[in-house]
Amino acid sequence: MGMDVVMKPRIRLTRRVSEMQISPTLAMMNRAIELTAQGVDVVDLGPGEPDFPTPTSVCAAGKRAIDQGFTKYTSGNGTKALRDALAARYNRRYGTSLAAENVIAGTGGKQELFNVTLALVDKGDEIIIPSPYWVSFPDQVQFAGGTPVFAPTDPQNDFRPTFADIEAVATERTRGVIINSPCNPTGAVIAEKELHRIVEWCASREAFLMFDETYEFFVYDGAKHVSAVRWFNDYPETIVGVNSMSKTFAMTGWRLGYAVAHRDVITAAGKIQSHSTSNPSSISQAAALEALGGGEEEVRRMWEAYRERRDWLIPAINSIDGLRCAYPDGAFYIFPEVKAYFGRGGVRDSQTLANYLLDEARVAVIPGAAFGSDDHVRISYATSMERLKEGVLRIGSALAKLR
Ligand SMILES: Cc1ncc(COP(=O)(O)O)c(C=O)c1O
Repeated sequence: MGMDVVMKPRIRLTRRVSEMQISPTLAMMNRAIELTAQGVDVVDLGPGEPDFPTPTSVCAAGKRAIDQGFTKYTSGNGTKALRDALAARYNRRYGTSLAAENVIAGTGGKQELFNVTLALVDKGDEIIIPSPYWVSFPDQVQFAGGTPVFAPTDPQNDFRPTFADIEAVATERTRGVIINSPCNPTGAVIAEKELHRIVEWCASREAFLMFDETYEFFVYDGAKHVSAVRWFNDYPETIVGVNSMSKTFAMTGWRLGYAVAHRDVITAAGKIQSHSTSNPSSISQAAALEALGGGEEEVRRMWEAYRERRDWLIPAINSIDGLRCAYPDGAFYIFPEVKAYFGRGGVRDSQTLANYLLDEARVAVIPGAAFGSDDHVRISYATSMERLKEGVLRIGSALAKLR
């Protein structure tokens, strides 16, 4: 017998990447985009992205940077001017004494979460994440060799994480806690007292607290955003703050986020960054500097629009039979319970419900299973009032067919 069968070379993917899930929010968005490209009118309530344009002054600063030739590499952790401005902003708000050496700017908050996770999480470390959680936290922890340990939060308490939730799942291997407030997907805002206890507890056992405040400006109904960074001076070895220009200033495509931490953590994160992206885009850094200097007015206008949509959306969703939704304090998402529809017309879980809504109503929502809660779906109100109204109407009629 000759070698008449030509062997095709195999692609040998690493275990590391095979164990990783593709971001489920992206998977749903891709289906919606595909349908839209086929000419289907999809109401897309999936995206975690402001529907507002980036403020004009910020765009102008980006253009100016190009015109002035500010188009080359910068310092790895971001320009001194940007890091100074970010440190000064925290110091002004919280009385901290952060300096440029405590700040790293990168290609989105996501990159800094990743860098810090790689810098602080070792094989075998357990990292506590309140659940429901943002999709990338567990995958990033796993990628670093750690084990995500979920701390379920109470829907009766509108999913606000508490110290007791965290403590209940702690073990000797707990090495860190990741808190996201306001939370994607639930909108929950952690209470000051609970956050302070978590910070103290982390410090007492030499665990880190990674605090993601990407949605810090979007809180409603008098709720107050509390940043863990306010206690930085007391616990500099413990607290890592992560933040982003993406949502606050409608700058998702500019890819500019940052972290503040002890300078040893920042140096470590910077080492990793130096071997991956080197530095965030020079143009985006110039634009970010402008936004930090004077974008507040525009941020307020966006906040007002989100608030108005939220105040309309929640009662509208609650008026649909079987759907139950709390009034989350923040972000631009709601997380209604949908399980009353399980077991009807082929709908078994949040994924099949989301598929049904896309097929039957042409409305895209994200299944809660992606965020660790199969009884819910995530609906984003970062879309116009007109589209929201259309979307809710369609959801109502599609679900009525299941009753
Ligand atoms: C909770 C949370 N953290 C971080 C990010 C990352 O944002 P970016 O990488 O655009 O700064 C997102 C984006 O969706 C998010 O929802």
